[in-house]
Amino acid sequence: MGIFLDSASVSEARRAMALGWVGGITTNPTLMARAEGDPATIIRRLGEVSPGPVFYQVTGSSLAAREDEGRRFHALDPDKVVLKIPASTENMALVVRLSPEVPCALTAVYSGAQAWVGCEAGARYVIPYVSRATRLQGDGLGLVTEIAQVLDACESEAEMLAASIKTPEEAIATLLAGARHLTLPLELILRLADHPLSEAAVAEFNRAGRD
Ligand code: G3P
Repeated sequence: MGIFLDSASVSEARRAMALGWVGGITTNPTLMARAEGDPATIIRRLGEVSPGPVFYQVTGSSLAAREDEGRRFHALDPDKVVLKIPASTENMALVVRLSPEVPCALTAVYSGAQAWVGCEAGARYVIPYVSRATRLQGDGLGLVTEIAQVLDACESEAEMLAASIKTPEEAIATLLAGARHLTLPLELILRLADHPLSEAAVAEFNRAGRD
């Protein structure tokens, strides 16, 4: 799996999936608001495009509303929809209730303690925001390292999916700090596999081949 697209745009999803090495799609309420169409239609269409998981973040104003919303969205595409549930004491109970039937991703994780409780509650994924954590707390990569150690220490099967990554260098540092999966915007995905020195090397070989 490894590389996910962070977008609610169906056209971006088609472009990313055509690459062949992007395994799923994460959305969030901001990305949903930017995309065309209602959230249920978007999730259905992303499920048609994606070979793997499609993440939907619950936004209901009460625990009961978030549970109902989560079950409705999961039913749209039960083989693919993973529910993103923002980390909070109240929402950990939602992870406990949903996780036996619906894969849950604890999102907006800013501490090892949140990751630990999320694992105990049954989350399948833990999602830290790397760049935001660096900006707001000082050390996003340190947070990734800490969460990786927590997942090891509690022998959890939960996997870390790191979000809020801005450059190829930050992506690789995040991977090396212990994240199992990264979710990236399309423009960053499209920058991962190119390098000016690779292009220069190929141009040089091509010139030599013509001589
Ligand atoms: O879903 C959360 C992630 O997309 C946040 O990224 O770039 O808004 O910090 P960013």
